[in-house]
Amino acid sequence: MKDVISLGVGEPDFATPWHIREAAIYALERGRTTYTSNLGLLKLREAIAQSVGKHFHVAYDPRKEILIAVGVSEAMDIAFRALIDPGDEVIYHEPCYVSYSPGIALAHGVPVPVSCRAEDGFAVTAEAIERALTPKSKVLVLNFPTNPTGGTMGRAELEKIAALARRRNLMVMSDEIYSELTYEGGHVSIASLPGMKERTLFLHGFSKAYAMTGFRIGYACGPAEIIEAMMRIHQYAMLCASSISQEAALEAIQHGEADTAEMREQYRVRRNFIVNALNQMGLTCHLPRGSFYAFPCIRSTGLDSKQFALQLLEAEKVACVPGSAFGPSGEGYLRCCFATALDKIEEATGRMARFVGRLR
Ligand SMILES: Cc1ncc(COP(=O)(O)O)c(C=O)c1O
Repeated sequence: MKDVISLGVGEPDFATPWHIREAAIYALERGRTTYTSNLGLLKLREAIAQSVGKHFHVAYDPRKEILIAVGVSEAMDIAFRALIDPGDEVIYHEPCYVSYSPGIALAHGVPVPVSCRAEDGFAVTAEAIERALTPKSKVLVLNFPTNPTGGTMGRAELEKIAALARRRNLMVMSDEIYSELTYEGGHVSIASLPGMKERTLFLHGFSKAYAMTGFRIGYACGPAEIIEAMMRIHQYAMLCASSISQEAALEAIQHGEADTAEMREQYRVRRNFIVNALNQMGLTCHLPRGSFYAFPCIRSTGLDSKQFALQLLEAEKVACVPGSAFGPSGEGYLRCCFATALDKIEEATGRMARFVGRLR
């Protein structure tokens, strides 16, 4: 369709900062176009170790405990394949990123979702996780800030989950791809809590914080024997991540902090605007404390989330994602990505208000 305003795809609307693109161009000019080590360029792993130490307060050995992958997507896939035996249960909080359940199933694991509620800011509790545990539970996947809800977790609740993971011998996979996009309260990584580094795989990447989705660089930090097992799958499936993208990622992690801070401030302005606009049109929307997604409740309209999204697209040419795409507990909600220019968000919410007004 023509003239559609998309609040659909979850990627920054900003172009990758110029100095990062320039680093990629310079890598090409210097002929840095060969394979790298399977684990990724050592200088990039060293820079990641420094950055993760500084920002997340966890010390990783760049020679043995860090693997550069083709996005968090690949890091997560090889982590599932390395950790899961057929029939192992993997717990995750829902609504959640669309890849978790299929990623677990592709590794012959059993996906076990735990529902989160808007009333709790879409945080997950240790009690809810504990209720889902069985003798087959092996891995707990956490994603804070959360796609699609913008939920975040404070230290106190994370400590309870960490204690549960230690008591019930769970491995934690923590997808922290939105951590830089936290608007209230500091971000805390579960890997930094006592006794957790040895049972956590910390997954992070460059897609969201530096607007580098197309570069396809992510990484996993964790216990050496798990990184080694992941590397064996990675070396045969992928060999290594793109050398040119790794050079660009090095520039990003060493000199991109100010760019991330500037983008975060723009996302914050857009978030405040869109949440206010959604509530004003009668779609109750909690304030997402992180990520770049608003997740309003659309139940008051009488439509289910797919009907709402399709009819909104057809009637007003605004694209959003039905909440049901993020698991059954996303039903009744809509994901609106605010990584879109403010004037487009203004126009899109105006069109949405017109659509909702006609339904009443
Ligand atoms: C929670 C979450 N994890 C992982 C990814 C994939 O990221 P990457 O581009 O690093 O593969 C996304 C992309 O939207 C995401 O939202």
